[in-house]
Amino acid sequence: MLRTQVVIIGAGPSGLLLSQLLHLQGIDSVVLEQRSRDYVAARIRAGLLEQHSVDLLVEAGAGERLQRECLVHDGFLMAWEGEVHRIDLHALAGKRVTVYGQTEIQQDLAEVRARSGGDIRYEATDVRLHDITTARPRVSCTHRDQAVEIECDFIAGCDGYHGVSRRSIPAEVLRTYERVYPFGWLGVLAEVPPLNDELVYANHSRGFALCSMRSRTRSRYYLQCPLEDTVEQWSDQRFWDELRQRLPAAHAARMTTGPSIEKSIAPLRSFVAEPMRYGQLFLAGDAAHIVPPTGAKGLNLATADVRVLHRGLTEFYRNRGRTLLDEYSQRALSRVWKATRFSWWFTTLMHKFGEDPFALQMQRAELTYIASSRAGAQTVAENYAGLDFDPDVVAAIR
Ligand code: FAD
Ligand code: DHB
Repeated sequence: MLRTQVVIIGAGPSGLLLSQLLHLQGIDSVVLEQRSRDYVAARIRAGLLEQHSVDLLVEAGAGERLQRECLVHDGFLMAWEGEVHRIDLHALAGKRVTVYGQTEIQQDLAEVRARSGGDIRYEATDVRLHDITTARPRVSCTHRDQAVEIECDFIAGCDGYHGVSRRSIPAEVLRTYERVYPFGWLGVLAEVPPLNDELVYANHSRGFALCSMRSRTRSRYYLQCPLEDTVEQWSDQRFWDELRQRLPAAHAARMTTGPSIEKSIAPLRSFVAEPMRYGQLFLAGDAAHIVPPTGAKGLNLATADVRVLHRGLTEFYRNRGRTLLDEYSQRALSRVWKATRFSWWFTTLMHKFGEDPFALQMQRAELTYIASSRAGAQTVAENYAGLDFDPDVVAAIR
């Protein structure tokens, strides 16, 4: 039987970042990932980072290319019914956000982990957790046709929404909260310059649209679409035509079109599982919570969990202190619920839910309120740019 200090399940951003931060504290880990390295590296997902996520990637030694290639944004645009309003993040919240693709983060973390001799086992199948509530938990799997069993002190469940870790917590212990939205996001990545320097979120009677980017030459655009739609129904031409109709005229006129590099449809869901700890198992990132993508909180919540968890594990290995680990779930969830609220609110504000005239008037009233009130805009700005950590969390994890 192998032995390590922490077994990390999942080599997404949460798992790799945790493993690297632990390594820098002299703590050993083994990462078990069910997919291949190429598959994980190619997934196109998040694009927008809060400052605390950037800071943690830099602390992990994975921030060099990020700092060279990222785009820093001081604000973003909200558009509806011919109106365009800019949320000035810097003036309203004193913060900025950073555009840098999750695909790049994944690559940077994998490289820094490989350089520091990280033990990451891709294509590990049939991962199972054992004896979670004892001081000697184990994880078994099949890797390269061999049965593998690893004994450890702690297990970090960083295996996303569909992973095995959360399902290893008994149903009577776990409380879950869920909201499924009645539409999806059709995303297109294209090698064309973004139509605006900053992101544009558009509420339109045909449905929501988002103009994001990955660089000055690569755009990431999204359209609200029916859940039943398939990408085959969306030719590039149809996508560009629909996007043009949902944007303010001046922005639509500046749009450069081109062949899509990637096209996918994602469902939207809010989901929170409590507690995020069971015995020696700690959940982090999408394994414990999912937010709809509006407002870009998913990856940022994952890094926030990892920040608290790695400090807790560090405290344990330094002086056998357990306070931070014991408080992990409560501290992480305090931020999770606030981001869940913001993502749900922003999704509700910007999407088309139907023809209910009352709901449409509520959206209009809220949008005009935000455009006319500094207090209204400031609430949007501070949530979008990322809330400060609660003061007691800051004190605890310093
Ligand atoms: P994941 O990235 O899901 O990684 C989990 C890993 O565990 C995967 O590699 C998986 O293969 C592996 N795994 C699963 N099951 C097992 C198992 N049984 N055994 C071993 N390994 C397993 N967030 C933002 O902050 N900003 C954005 O702009 C943003 N945009 C998004 C756009 C889209 C279209 C989508 C879909 C998501 C977006 N997100 C965004 C969310 C963000 O991508 C996720 O929150 C983030 O990937 C979470 O990281 P994670 O490491 O916790 O989970
Ligand atoms: C992106 C996704 C989002 O959900 C968002 O609010 C901003 C940017 C993106 O993928 O670029």
